[in-house]
Amino acid sequence: MYRPSKNPPMPSLRCRRRNSSASARMRIPSLTTGWSSMYPLLPISRQIISSRGIYAGFPNFTGDNSQSDRELIANWYSNSPLSPAHMDWSSHFPAFVDPDTSKTNLSGGRKLTKEVEVVDIGCGFGGLMVGLAPLLPDTLMVGMEIRTSVLEYLSSRIHALRSQQQRLKNKAANPSSTELQDASAQPEGTESTAPAPSNDDEIGTEKIFPGNFENITAIRSNTMKFLPNFFGHHQLSKIFICFPDPHFKARKHKARIVSESLNSEYAYVLRPGGLLYTITDVEEYHHWVLRHFLHGEQPEGAAPAPSSKDLFERVSEEELALDPCVRVMKYETEESKKVTRNKGNKYVAVFRRKADPEWPA
Ligand SMILES: C[S@@+](CC[C@H](N)C(=O)[O-])C[C@H]1O[C@@H](n2cnc3c(N)ncnc32)[C@H](O)[C@@H]1O
Repeated sequence: MYRPSKNPPMPSLRCRRRNSSASARMRIPSLTTGWSSMYPLLPISRQIISSRGIYAGFPNFTGDNSQSDRELIANWYSNSPLSPAHMDWSSHFPAFVDPDTSKTNLSGGRKLTKEVEVVDIGCGFGGLMVGLAPLLPDTLMVGMEIRTSVLEYLSSRIHALRSQQQRLKNKAANPSSTELQDASAQPEGTESTAPAPSNDDEIGTEKIFPGNFENITAIRSNTMKFLPNFFGHHQLSKIFICFPDPHFKARKHKARIVSESLNSEYAYVLRPGGLLYTITDVEEYHHWVLRHFLHGEQPEGAAPAPSSKDLFERVSEEELALDPCVRVMKYETEESKKVTRNKGNKYVAVFRRKADPEWPA
């Protein structure tokens, strides 16, 4: 607000402005400098960082002292757990619920016999999940999608696939049935060589797929804000980022799902040796990905600072050629099919999470 110089600015205004930036400084530690960028802060800190908008529109945010900020934010986004230990996966993976009823998580839900370890970020209509399900039948995988309607479609798709498999299994169990074509039992802990189901296979198929699609699920979430609420340190073995929204304009680059600070979150939840897969049809985005995972953007003349980029190395083409997940990523996601139809290019880059560095004594 303009005021003639002889009148000092209104104290209340200055005070409010100073207070708000001071509290912002106190609550938002730097994620962009030094080793702190490799280890993102606890989920709540990320929520507060990204919640400048949330605070702005938060109804009655200061009115209720009985709830912590963390609880208020989590309630606001009611499908985000307070922490990975609060996440109730039991309704997502009923076939993997631990039979021991005394084993519960912090929200009282039944625990699973194994942890979720593969995530598809921005999964869209779920082609990747459906393609991977029979390849990794003993691995629990989740697709995360921000759009409610897309998520609803994918949830019904998974539900329909499970019901269809159940029907086929029942038919197989009935000796009078002669229609079963492929009841492949997959030994525990092995990767299947069965072909991934394409969309054509899905509906009206008479195939039984390893894992019966019991190992995949989908949840609605903004992964840019809530990924560490769902997954703990070193929990994941694979993360997929397939055909992310390119956000072409420079002023929109901050909405990209690959960035210095988000990569540090991926490094946090990915275990050493785990893989982060990316694919895009936008060449410029591919270079952005390489830059943000490997080379970084060091300000000119600045001393090299350690960052999340020190935790990733690129996987060789030879290794990728042997990885069945790459084929699914290239040909089974809905977006990849669109690119194939339009004869577009596909740029693949996969990064291995390196071991944590030694901390100085
Ligand atoms: C271009 S589509 C690709 C979908 C899918 N991966 C594929 O290959 O077919 C990008 C998807 O990412 C989702 N998305 C974008 N930002 C997201 C976010 N922050 N959290 C979760 N999903 C997001 C979009 O809603 C959209 O469905």
